[in-house]
Amino acid sequence: MSKTYKIGVLPGDGTGPEVVAQGLRVLEAASRRFGFQTALAHYPFGGEHYLKTGETLPDSAIQEFRTLDAMYLGAIGHPDVKPGILERGILLRARFELDQYINLRPVKLYPGVDTPLKDKGPEHIDFVVIRENTEGLYVGAGGFLRKGTPDEVAVQESINTRKGAERCLRYAFECCRKRNRSKKLTLCGKTNVLTFAFDLWERAFNELGAQYPDVERDYAHVDATCMWMVKNPEWFDVIVTDNMFGDIITDLGAMIQGGMGIAAGGNINPEGVSMFEPIGGSAPKYTGQNIINPLAGICAAGMMLEHLGETAAARAIEEAVMWVTSSKLKSLAAGRMGYSTSEVGDLVVDHVQGRAAAG
Ligand code: IPM
Ligand code: MN
Repeated sequence: MSKTYKIGVLPGDGTGPEVVAQGLRVLEAASRRFGFQTALAHYPFGGEHYLKTGETLPDSAIQEFRTLDAMYLGAIGHPDVKPGILERGILLRARFELDQYINLRPVKLYPGVDTPLKDKGPEHIDFVVIRENTEGLYVGAGGFLRKGTPDEVAVQESINTRKGAERCLRYAFECCRKRNRSKKLTLCGKTNVLTFAFDLWERAFNELGAQYPDVERDYAHVDATCMWMVKNPEWFDVIVTDNMFGDIITDLGAMIQGGMGIAAGGNINPEGVSMFEPIGGSAPKYTGQNIINPLAGICAAGMMLEHLGETAAARAIEEAVMWVTSSKLKSLAAGRMGYSTSEVGDLVVDHVQGRAAAG
């Protein structure tokens, strides 16, 4: 009997539903070809739902999520909702409640995709960022004193636990070993200024690193990391970093791999339920026009299958995406692809099914 995966689908806001629709078609095509089943549970959470009901993510939904094999998310963010409510209430809540302590973000330039980096090609841009996903500045520790007065004080603290850093670092060492490329793990921090937080990280890195003699340990400050990502991206194999720095450097990473149209990521709990998403936002201005690039969402679906152990299906999706980028699309930008959102979905589906037209 073939396997059935229970997948929670959260299309979310803006262009999220259009992108997710194509990702689900690709998933369906992959399941037919590779002989597994999916049982989808759709969830309405997002800006529209919040404006109608006042609800972000109820406890009952979190309980249901715990019974899933994986989650597939479109985008969260609505122009009529104050920044922070949906992000904290839905996206971060899911990451925290499900203890998805890894945010895995591959930075890979596919053939045919334009990078803004001069003289760099797919052979130079192929690394992975592992971002700690449950701690740091994102915890929401801190508060105001004398709010609204001229003497106002705002404190926002970065929480770093030895356990939290260590489990993230362990995942990064394992990932680096498994990739089996240059086997270099770069800790991205700021040990020259954040002398408590990154002291903890650095000690954990070196102590744990002793168990991985085959992995070369490398360190770069976050500002220098940004510089090298632009100047010499080929130096990187796996980068591991805290939540805030990881957020920032992965937007830079997305740009050098061709933009938000292609960048995907996974919020991973290696012992629990993981959630996969295109890393871009809800793009309100492109909503409903069938012009947004669905490839990031499709790549997220591929990452989800890889995570579920459907390696051949994941590879087929990545190959289809590379075929589309190298021989079909004029650009990855919304409205300039030369194809509509659903036509890009058609191309990938055809290729995954093994009946794409030659060329
Ligand atoms: C991301 C996003 C989120 C983050 C926002 C929407 C809360 O930017 O997934 O990178 O900061 O983690
Ligand atoms: Mn971000």
